[in-house]
Amino acid sequence: MADSSALHVLVLAGGNSTRTRTGGPKALLDLCGLPLLEHVFRAVDPLGAGQHVIVLGPKHRDPIEAWMNKAGRHVDAGGQWSIALQPEARGTGDAVACGLSELPEEGRLLILCGDTPLLTTETFQTLAEQEGDALLTALCQDPTGYGRVLYEESGRILRIVEEADADEQIKQVSEINAGVYVLDIAALRKALAEADDDNAQGEFYLTDAAVEILREREGVCVCLEDGEAEILGVNTLQQHATAQYLLRERQLDAMMTSGVIIDDPSTTFIEYDVEIGPGTRIHPCTVIRAGVKVGANCEVGPFAQLRVGTTMEDGSVIGNFVETKNSTMEAGAKAKHLTYLGDAQVGERANIGCGTITANYDGKNKHRTEIGARAFIGSGTVLVAPVRVGAGAMTAAGSVVLKGRHVEDDSVVAGVPARPLKPVE
Ligand code: UD1
Ligand code: CA
Repeated sequence: MADSSALHVLVLAGGNSTRTRTGGPKALLDLCGLPLLEHVFRAVDPLGAGQHVIVLGPKHRDPIEAWMNKAGRHVDAGGQWSIALQPEARGTGDAVACGLSELPEEGRLLILCGDTPLLTTETFQTLAEQEGDALLTALCQDPTGYGRVLYEESGRILRIVEEADADEQIKQVSEINAGVYVLDIAALRKALAEADDDNAQGEFYLTDAAVEILREREGVCVCLEDGEAEILGVNTLQQHATAQYLLRERQLDAMMTSGVIIDDPSTTFIEYDVEIGPGTRIHPCTVIRAGVKVGANCEVGPFAQLRVGTTMEDGSVIGNFVETKNSTMEAGAKAKHLTYLGDAQVGERANIGCGTITANYDGKNKHRTEIGARAFIGSGTVLVAPVRVGAGAMTAAGSVVLKGRHVEDDSVVAGVPARPLKPVE
């Protein structure tokens, strides 16, 4: 039986992403290592809502659905989101009407846009905790582009006026519609059935239906007084850059709170899903990509890039102009200058000299390089993978160790191609 108080969620992403002008869907624009839409999904996850539906349009459905499957977000891939198709982008009201076809007859619906990646779970919760229907608004220093919220003198909501429909006086209003609503599903079905597209954009506005419901059912407006950053909608690439900047700030703040020393937050880029242990110091101009793990008391940078698949164990060091990918630095290992480590395992306390390169790619396939504990790789060494350098072994400066010409434990090799010299005493 349908439960009239159960909360369901609808995300609107059926638009054509015209204003971002990239050709692709803005829902998949990368923001700090995750697609924009993933930020939205993560904010919704903890609500434990009943049904989760996303509205997509024909133009961008395929790539978004493919990502949802790959990320395990789609119901068919074990996730909780089902897709409703909006055949034509006729406005947010029409998008909701399309979404309702996938939702129960009764219940409460949290509606949000697929382009507001900074909204938090707490804000959604605050809205969902209101007794009846509710709208989220915010006070903005620069309200340009958003729908302005107008009230009657009694305080009852009067209208939401889109930028395109606003006159100069209405454009001065600083309270805006954040595009997040909790509305009664039955009331919504009724209001949308009566909606029209008599406005500057010739669209069916969800705002019209929402205002009607709020007025009739005495709903509330919850205003974020300091919410300009949180409600940011990504309509343009300028707003995309701003959103990324703000998310990055949040990410760095969380890192510093957990004991990571960040010398210069303004030049440090740490993506989402990165783990860094306490006491680790991140020097300026460092990029750490999604999924990277860094232990405690490590040093990274300045000017370093840790790419996907990098693990730094406790006390290891990556210095300036070093790039790593798919590589592990075991505890206490160091690569302090001008080095590329790709598909490499660097053993405990090994030292990678300046200018070392693991040549991991032969033009067709990637191969691994293994460097044993305490090995000393001389400056300017090229290790042509697949290759192994034994524990305690040493390569002389400028050595080129050819593929498969493994270097024995505790031995020394030198030259081009590298040949054994003598055992280390
Ligand atoms: C919308 C609101 C505006 C609010 C702002 C908050 C309306 C009419 N306007 O404006 O009051 O201040 O969000 O960020 O609702 N979409 C569809 N199908 C469509 C059109 C849009 O699914 O036919 C989706 C878009 O993909 C997007 C979301 O709905 O994720 C909002 O649409 P958008 O065009 O960005 O609306 P705004 O102009 O930002
Ligand atoms: Ca928008």
